[in-house]
Amino acid sequence: MTMVWAHRGASGYAPENTLPAIEMALEQGADAIEIDVQLTRDDEVVVIHDETLERTTSGNGWVADHSLEALRALDASAGDERYRGTRVPTLQEVLHLAGDATVNVELKNTRMRYHGLEERVLAIVAELGAADRVVVSSFNHYSLRHLLHLGTPLPLGALYSDPLFQPWKYARRLGATALHPPLRATRRKLIDACHDLGMPVHVWTVNEPDDIKKMAKVGADAVITNYPNLARSIIG
Ligand code: G3P
Ligand code: CA
Repeated sequence: MTMVWAHRGASGYAPENTLPAIEMALEQGADAIEIDVQLTRDDEVVVIHDETLERTTSGNGWVADHSLEALRALDASAGDERYRGTRVPTLQEVLHLAGDATVNVELKNTRMRYHGLEERVLAIVAELGAADRVVVSSFNHYSLRHLLHLGTPLPLGALYSDPLFQPWKYARRLGATALHPPLRATRRKLIDACHDLGMPVHVWTVNEPDDIKKMAKVGADAVITNYPNLARSIIG
């Protein structure tokens, strides 16, 4: 059965990458929570999509130029009055809140090449004993290679956006354990080829009912969606 992964939490209903969005996703029956992480000036791992603060918080400038304490003073409600006062969460907080649910930690390190992000994520996951419920993904495949070099036991998802020739072969050579393709590139042929290699396919971002149905029909292992309750009602 196709799993439901909540994209930035239940971000269709609550501010993305916040604890309320994650709580809502769990209430809506999501199997996993997808989040984005960046590194603060003092090397803390925070959950926020953009490298800059303007779009989703009351702050300005680069995440990397701020300490955790400074970031925690910001409002992360992205202008949604119902959630005013919600904060930028840490990775630790999200892993606590998610309980037994899987957490897909996407390293947002294509624009910012955060030194030590991989090591910090691995350390936090190990400290919390969460290795059996974390999947790490990134568009930065050097970062995935670095994680392998560090000897990570975690499953690694190769994210991509631009067209890729035979992505299943590429992902296998890379050492990834899962493929995270964009919806527009996902066909039954791609899923079958991945499955022949024992590689699950987690498709992003699947919000329309027809697309959710289609991805379930062609055998995607997960749809990453802003609307976990919608996907749950379609997939079962
Ligand atoms: O992990 C899939 C998806 O989240 C990647 O795109 O920009 O929403 O992080 P983005
Ligand atoms: Ca993401």
